[in-house]
Amino acid sequence: MISDFKAGSKICQSVLLRVQRVGTSSNGAPFARGLAEDNSGKIPFITFEAGIVEKMREMDGPSPVMVSGSVDINKFSGEMALQLVIKKLSDIVPEDDISNLLPEGDFDHEAYKDKFDRLIKSVLTPGLRLVLDNVFEGAVYEQFLRNPAGMRLHHAYIGGLLQHSVDVAVLATAMAESIGGVDKDLIVAGALLHDVGKLREISASMGFPYTTEGRLLGHISMSAAIVQEAAAKARVTGPKLQQLLHIILSHHGEPEKGSPVACATKEAFIVHYADELDAVMNQFKKTDNKNPWEYNKMLQRFLMSNV
Ligand SMILES: [Fe+2]
Ligand SMILES: [Fe+2]
Repeated sequence: MISDFKAGSKICQSVLLRVQRVGTSSNGAPFARGLAEDNSGKIPFITFEAGIVEKMREMDGPSPVMVSGSVDINKFSGEMALQLVIKKLSDIVPEDDISNLLPEGDFDHEAYKDKFDRLIKSVLTPGLRLVLDNVFEGAVYEQFLRNPAGMRLHHAYIGGLLQHSVDVAVLATAMAESIGGVDKDLIVAGALLHDVGKLREISASMGFPYTTEGRLLGHISMSAAIVQEAAAKARVTGPKLQQLLHIILSHHGEPEKGSPVACATKEAFIVHYADELDAVMNQFKKTDNKNPWEYNKMLQRFLMSNV
């Protein structure tokens, strides 16, 4: 496991490689560098093996591979940081153990699945419930339990989408209760469905790559399309469906943040703020207690972990 690597360790294990640079060093030798990851952590890697460099040139996106090599200290990093020097690389074959490559979220999957099922059953408005039941059935339901909610920025682990959607629904319901005068069924349905397009945007396979459809359409419009397809199948129409679609389409809050429409209903604001708050709170799980301050990419600032 990467978290156990020490200077001088000889290693042979499966990793996920993100190649960042392929080039030629001043003495004319080819090299490639980037990041190697498993679910215990990540480490910069470098390789000077010509065959491996050639292979890395072809890698398109995060790639799971078997590597062997050694760990040493990068003299050029200034921080005496460890780096992995890759000497051998091969493709993953079915016999290889890759369980250390899919990051598992640090939460109780079963408990979240129960909460999710209960939230759906709590929706009693017939049209909204029909849409929920039609979206979350069969293979889509199974995939929803496993998919990440992000590739890198938030909830980027197995079950992240389930955890995020449930937490947004719970936060939004709590806000709805104290604010009053809002439609809680709409809020729960909107929260559970707001990111459902991520099932098509981000693949749950190694490295959580974006799909072509995801890059072309984005999860907001895909979430709306999934809900519209389910509504058409269940013959649901009317103002509640429009309000549900509005929550989904406006969940990033403003057009500048990727939403085609800005929030225009109480329910849409509540789901939007719950979504934002949950994504921000999720960042704190990533900080490392050895060093309470860590730079956070999503928020572009240093965050302090609660020690
Ligand atoms: Fe979203
Ligand atoms: Fe979200």
